[in-house]
Formats: sequence, structure tokens, C-alpha cells
Amino acid sequence: MSARAIVLAAGKGTRMKSARPKVLHELCGRPMLWWVLDALRAAGVDDVVVVSNPELDPKLAAFGVRTVVQEEQLGTGHAVRIALDALPPRSGTVLVAYGDMPLVDAAIFEDVQAAVDPDAGTALALVTARMPLPSSFGRIVRDASAVAEIVEAKDCTPAQLAIDEMNAGIYAFDESALRESIVRVGNDNAQREFYLTDTIALLNASGRRVVAVTAPDYRSVLGVNDRVELADARAIRNRRLCEEHLRAGVTIVDPATTYLDPGVAIAADTVIYPNTSIAGATRIGARCAIGPNCRIGNAVIADDVQITESVILDSSIGRHAKIGPYAHIRGGATLGEGVKIGDFVEVKNAELGDDVKANHLAYIGDARVGPRTNYAAGAITCNYDGVRKNRTEIGADVFIGTNNSLVAPVTIGDGAITGAGAVVIRDVPPGDKQVGNPARSILKKPAGT
Ligand code: UD1
Ligand code: MG
Repeated sequence: MSARAIVLAAGKGTRMKSARPKVLHELCGRPMLWWVLDALRAAGVDDVVVVSNPELDPKLAAFGVRTVVQEEQLGTGHAVRIALDALPPRSGTVLVAYGDMPLVDAAIFEDVQAAVDPDAGTALALVTARMPLPSSFGRIVRDASAVAEIVEAKDCTPAQLAIDEMNAGIYAFDESALRESIVRVGNDNAQREFYLTDTIALLNASGRRVVAVTAPDYRSVLGVNDRVELADARAIRNRRLCEEHLRAGVTIVDPATTYLDPGVAIAADTVIYPNTSIAGATRIGARCAIGPNCRIGNAVIADDVQITESVILDSSIGRHAKIGPYAHIRGGATLGEGVKIGDFVEVKNAELGDDVKANHLAYIGDARVGPRTNYAAGAITCNYDGVRKNRTEIGADVFIGTNNSLVAPVTIGDGAITGAGAVVIRDVPPGDKQVGNPARSILKKPAGT
């Protein structure tokens, strides 16, 4: 039977002080809620319903998950009740988790699910964690080995506030026992909310058992309620991503200043230097040196590439290329093998053949540049005529001189040379040598032509 889960995400998240719904705040390139859903998926839970609110709901379409709208946020107990009303009842267990705990992993869901056992009278297993005080989490009040009740921090007596075992907010309920108890939860408490956590005392009163599964490390179950906690969670997630790559043979000189997304692939023996962010679906080959101070997003980088102090977005870089410092490669650029792009060079939507060199202060946009061509300092493709973008085609073994303006659309043939300061407004034939503004050929023409 497929495993079922309810994820609560409708809360106002007022402590974030944000116009954006709390669970959509991102860490390591993904919204908080994505991390929770990813962990559930990894635990084999395929029947998931997210409780959202009217503002959040349209934004959840991209998650491809079923949602139920909680019009008014009357508490976690109320949210679960709404979700259950929308689900056909069935026997078995149902997981409940909160959408604001982006550090969870699949193992924690598997462990809690394994601990619930309706046939033996255990109607609920929940995850607890020992945590430094003071904490705003609900306190676990124990009765020998079982859980007697959970008291929310705002409702605690001073003695209860001193308890350092907290409710993580991950539950595996016997579904029929949950349905029975959730309708009996009231809101007679400090926040006038219907607390899901009140089901624990109710289940105990009806003769069922509630057991705790203690998380090995409270940092895996931290709920994010404000931006301080979001920053803490991001650092922990990022550290884990770095550790995966470190263990797989990538050198990361300083994990604290290397920012990774979960989709990133990096081959062994590549070195990442500090203050570098690598985002999106980036793939980096072996033996590369990336950083310091690089921003790389959705890039495909082959083996043995060196990139320093540069920005590479939505582009691909061939083997043995050397980029930077201070280069900007973007917009679907494709660089061949052995390409050298130096400081203050921008390449946009351009295809550069093998061994092309553009070492200083240049712009290559909407262009194709043939192999071994040298593109000198200050040369610019004038790709925009004020109305549309036009292409520049440059052949193989061309020498583009310093401070050239290549006014697109224009084609420069194989082996051509343009002199310093040339303004090229007409096509240059292969092998020709042109100078001036507008550029003209200075090759001696055969007599009679
Ligand atoms: C909750 C628990 C607390 C636990 C802590 C762990 C309750 C009553 N308290 O407190 O015991 O220690 O999480 O992080 O459950 N939500 C809704 N609808 C609502 C209210 C909340 O969907 O009406 C959602 C929120 O979006 C959030 C989650 O439920 O994702 C938890 O709500 P939150 O307000 O953050 O509860 P905590 O005070 O953190
Ligand atoms: Mg919370």
C-alpha cells in the first residue's frame, strides 16, 4: 500500500516579516517546502497532500503535489483536520510533517513510521530531540518510557519550560486513531489555536500508547520560524552538500564560503576555491580549478578547466579552457577546447571554436568565432542596432585588431586581419587585410581589377 503524508504549510509565518509565504523562502536554491517533499519522496511516500492557504496555493502548482486550502489558520490541529476531510479514510498509518523543517532526511520518516504499531496499541510515534534551552518548541512530557503529553512553550509552567526534550514536528499516526482524536481537539490555550499536539494526551486518555523516536541530532529537525533560523538551516544544508562532494573526491577549500545547490555535479580532483557559488543544474568535470570568487549557474564545464573570479551562466566551457579573472560568460555561450577568455571580457550567446583567445576588455555577443582566432583588446561586436540583435560571423585563424567595432550583421572570412581601430561595416573576404573607419582593404589588388 502506498504511504500517505500530510504536510502543513498554511501558517502565516509572521515571524519571517515577509510578503513571501514562509515555506517558499529558499535555502541552497530550493524552497523550504521542496526539501521536506524531497525527503518524503526519498522515503517512498507517494501520496502527499500539502495544506496551503489561499495566497500560497497558486504558487504550489510547480511542486506537482496535491493541496488542500485552509482558509483561516486556526492551528496545526485544524490544518490536519482539513486535510483528513479531503482524504478518503483508510486503515494504516499517515505521516504528518511541517513544511518549515528543511533539514529533515528520508531516514527520519522511515524510523518514525517503523515505530508506530496499531496492532500493539501504539497509535502514534513522534520524533523528539534534545535541544539547547531556551527553545520555542513544544515540550515532551514523559510518563516512564511513553509520551504523556506535549505542552507548547507558551502554555508551559516554569518546570515544563526547563524540559530539554522537544517536539520535532514529525508524526506517524494510526490514521483511524488520528481521525477519532483530531475532532476532539479544542483551542483553550494561550494562542487560542487548535493544536495537533493535543492529540497526544487524548490518545493516551483513550488507552492508546504514544512513543518517541529520538532524533540523533536536533539540527536535522530544526523548524524555521524566522530569518535567523533560516540562515542557520542554510549553513547546515550547505555543509551537508559540501560534505557529499568532499567525500566523492572534490576538494572544497572552504565549505563555509562555497555555496552549492542540490542539482550540482562535480567530478573528482576538481578544486573549488573560496567564495564561490555553484547553482542550478551545473556539471563540472574532473581536475578543474574553480574560484576564488566565482558565480556559476546552469553551466556545463568540461575537464581540466580553470575559472577564476568570474561569472558563468547558462553556458558551456570546453576542456582546458582558461577563464578570468573578471570574465562574464552567459546566455547560451559555447566555448570550445583550449579557449582563453581574460579579464573584463563578456561573451553572450556566442559559439567560440577551439583555441580562440579574447584576453582583455572585449564583447562577443550573438556571434560565431572560428578556431584559433585572436580577438584583441577593446574589440566589440556591435550586435544591437537599436531595434534588433544581429549576428557576427568570424572565421578560423582570424586576427581581430584592438578597439575594433564589428557592426553586425557582418561576416569576416577565414584568415582575415583587421587593423587597430577598424570599424567593420561590410563583410571582409577570407585572407583580406582591412583598416580604418569604415574598414577598407589594404591588400594590393592584381592590375586590372
Ligand atoms: C510546532 C509544534 C511544536 C513543535 C514545533 C516544531 C504545534 C501546536 N506545535 O510549533 O510542538 O515543537 O512545531 O517546529 O503543532 N500551519 C498550518 N496551519 C495553521 C498553523 C500552522 O498549516 O493553522 C503550519 C505552518 O505553516 C508550519 C507548521 O504548521 O509549517 C507549524 O506551524 P508553526 O506555527 O511554525 O508551529 P510552531 O510554533 O513552530
Ligand atoms: Mg514552526
